Amino acid sequence: MKRRLSRIGALTAAGLASCILATAAMPEMARANDGYDLWLAPSAAGTAVPDVKILSDSPTLRIAGDELRRDLKAPALPVVLAKADDPALASLRLATAGMGTEGYLIRPATIAGRPSLLVTGRTDTAVLYGAFAVIRAQRTGADLAQLNVASAPKVKLRVLNHWDNLDGSVERGYAGQSLWDWWTLPDFKDPRYTDYARANASLGINGVVLNNVNAKPESLSAAYIAKAAALAEVFRPWGIKVYLSARFSAPIELGGLKTADPLDPQVAAWWQAKSAEIYRAIPDFGGFLVKANSEGQPGPRDYHRSHAEGANMLAAAVAPHGGVVMWRAFVYAETDPDDRAKQAYTEFRPLDGKFADNVLVQVKNGAIDFQPREPFHPLFGAMPRTPMMLELQITKEYLGFATHLAYLGPLFTEVLDADTRTRGKGSTVAKVVDGALDGHDLSGMAGVANLGRDRDWSGSTFNQANWYAFGRLAWNPALSADVIAREWAEQTFGADPRVVDAATSMMMESREALVDYTGPLGLAHLMDTGHHYGPGPWVDDLARPEWNPTYYHKADRNGIGFDRTRTGSNAIAQYAPAVARRLADPRTTPEEQLLWFHHLPWDWKMHSGRTLWEQMVDRYDRGVTTVERMQAQWRDVKGLVDEERWNKTAVYLEIQVKEARWWRDASLAYWMSVNGLSLPAGSAAPAHELAWYKAQRFPLAPGQAH
Ligand code: GCU
Repeated sequence: MKRRLSRIGALTAAGLASCILATAAMPEMARANDGYDLWLAPSAAGTAVPDVKILSDSPTLRIAGDELRRDLKAPALPVVLAKADDPALASLRLATAGMGTEGYLIRPATIAGRPSLLVTGRTDTAVLYGAFAVIRAQRTGADLAQLNVASAPKVKLRVLNHWDNLDGSVERGYAGQSLWDWWTLPDFKDPRYTDYARANASLGINGVVLNNVNAKPESLSAAYIAKAAALAEVFRPWGIKVYLSARFSAPIELGGLKTADPLDPQVAAWWQAKSAEIYRAIPDFGGFLVKANSEGQPGPRDYHRSHAEGANMLAAAVAPHGGVVMWRAFVYAETDPDDRAKQAYTEFRPLDGKFADNVLVQVKNGAIDFQPREPFHPLFGAMPRTPMMLELQITKEYLGFATHLAYLGPLFTEVLDADTRTRGKGSTVAKVVDGALDGHDLSGMAGVANLGRDRDWSGSTFNQANWYAFGRLAWNPALSADVIAREWAEQTFGADPRVVDAATSMMMESREALVDYTGPLGLAHLMDTGHHYGPGPWVDDLARPEWNPTYYHKADRNGIGFDRTRTGSNAIAQYAPAVARRLADPRTTPEEQLLWFHHLPWDWKMHSGRTLWEQMVDRYDRGVTTVERMQAQWRDVKGLVDEERWNKTAVYLEIQVKEARWWRDASLAYWMSVNGLSLPAGSAAPAHELAWYKAQRFPLAPGQAH
C-alpha cells in the first residue's frame, strides 16, 4: 500500500488522468506481488484486446473466453473456442477418438473463412482446459500461431484432499485457516472460492474432497450438505466435482442406529438415503473418501468385516448416482506386532478382486507415511483387479512445513517412475495408477492440499509449485519434474532467464537437500512427536511402538537401519521378485534406500569407499551446504523478483539454513551418543550438547491433529 501511494505521489499533475486509470489496474499488480495470483498473474504487456470467439454459449465456455481475453497478448490469429461437435467445425473432420471427455486439441484452422487458432474438445470443460493450455503456452514462450497440441489426461480423477476441519483449522496445514468458511456458507460465497477453482482448473484438477479424512459425522448433516452444495455450485463451471470424507460410524452418530456394521441392512439403507439426500443437493457429487480402521477411526473391522465389505456397502449407495468410493489403504495397528511397513499390503492384497467396480483403493506413495523419501508402496502392482489411486502429500508435514523450500516434483516423479516389475520391465507406478498396466478405466491421483487463507495460498511462493506440480502430474504422470519446475517459474516470476534458471536449480536440488539434512541413506520417521517439526531421533517413549523414531532406525552401538530382508521383517517379499532380489542385498540396494531395508554396521563399506558413518555425516553436511547454496542463488536474483515475494523467500531461506543446521547437529549429536564414534576430520561439531536438542519443545507448532 505504502509503495503504491508513494508512486502516485511522485506523479505530476499532468499525469493525473493516466494515474487514475493506472490505479484502477493496480490492485492486480499489488496482488501479483503478494503471490495471490499464483502462476496466473496477468501478464504486464498485452494492451490490445485479443480476438476471442466462442461458438456456443455455456458458463464454462464463457469462462474459457474470459480467461483468454484477460491473459492473451493479442495473438496473430483470432482464437476460436468450440466444442468438437459444433457444426462450424464439421468440415475439419477432427479426430476426436483419443480425446476422451476432457482432452483438448489446439491447432490452426480456417473457420468461417478466417484463419484462426482453434481450441476444441468434446466437452465444455475440455475446451476450458485447452484455453488454459493456450495461456500456459504463451507464458512459457511458445509461438501461438504455430501451436498444434492434442492432450488428454492420463488419470481420470485428479483430486485434492483437503484435511480441513469444520472449525476452520487444517490438519497438517501450514498456510492459515481453511479456505472454506463453513460458518458463513452456504449464504456467503467468498470470491476466493472462484479463484481457487480457477487455479485448479488451470491445472486440470477435477475433484475436491472438502473435509478431513479424520471426518466428523456432522459433515454429512443436512446443514453441511447445503454448505458443500454451495461450494459445488461455485466449482461446477470449472469442471470440478465435490467429494466428502465420510465417517464410517455416521449411521450411529447421525442416524441414531445401534451399529455401523456394513452388512446390517439398516446401515446400508441409512447410507443409501444419505447418498440420495446428498445427490438431491449436489447432482454431480463425486462420492466418498474413507479412512477406516486407521489411527483410531471407526471402520468395518470393528464388526469383523473386511475393508472390501465396508467399501462395497458405501459403493452400492453412490453407484445409482454415478459416484465412487475412494477407500484408503493407510491402515496399521498397534495390536499388530508386524513391521508397520507391511501391514497395509497384508490387509489389502487378499482383497484384490473383491471390491465393487466404483471403488478405488487409495494408497500413499510409500508404506509408512509421506516421509521425505520412501520406496514405492508394495501395493502398487500387487492388486491388478483393483483401481489403485495414488495419494501424495502436497502439504509438507514432514518436509519443513511452509518455511523450508522443498520442491516435491522429484518426490512425486520418483514414485511415479518406480518400476514395480509386476508385469515385467516398465510396470511403473504411473502405469498402475493411470490404469494402463492392468486395463482399468477408473483411475485417480489424490494430493493432500497445502492450501489455506494465507494471501499466497500455500504459505510460501515456492510451495505453490507443489500444488502446480501435483496438478500437472495428475494430468500427465510422464512429465519431468524439471520441466514442470521451469514452466512454473516462468509463469510465476516472468521470463527473465536469470530468475527462471535460479528458481529451477534451487527447486531441483531442494528435496534431496532436505532428505540429506533430515534423514539420509534411507532413514525415515525421525521427527519430533505430534507436530512432526524438527528432529527427534531419540524419541522412544510413545505408547505405540511404531510411533517412536527408534522403531524405525534401530540404531545401537553396532549398527543402524531396519532389516526388512529375510533375516528381518521380510517386507521385501511384498515386492515383485525382480525388485525383491535387488533389495535383498545391501550392495544392490539403491544407496538412498539403504537403511530402509538393511541394518548395517557403522563401518559398513559404501560404494564410495567411505564407511557408512562417514557417508552419513557427509550427507548431513551436504544437505546444509546445498541450502546455503540455494540461499546464495536467491541473493543473486535480488531486484529481479518483486520485493515482497523476494523478501519473504529470503527470510524463509534464512530459517531453512538455521533449521537444516539444527537437524544436522541434533541428529549427529544423537548418533554419536549411540555409536560412540567421532566426526570425520573437517566436519564441524554440533553447536550444542544432545541434551539441549532433546529439551526443545514446540507445543504450539501449527497443523497438529486435534
Ligand atoms: C499422518 C498424519 C495424520 C493423518 C494421517 C492420515 O499420520 O500425521 O495427521 O491423519 O497421516 O493420512 O490419515
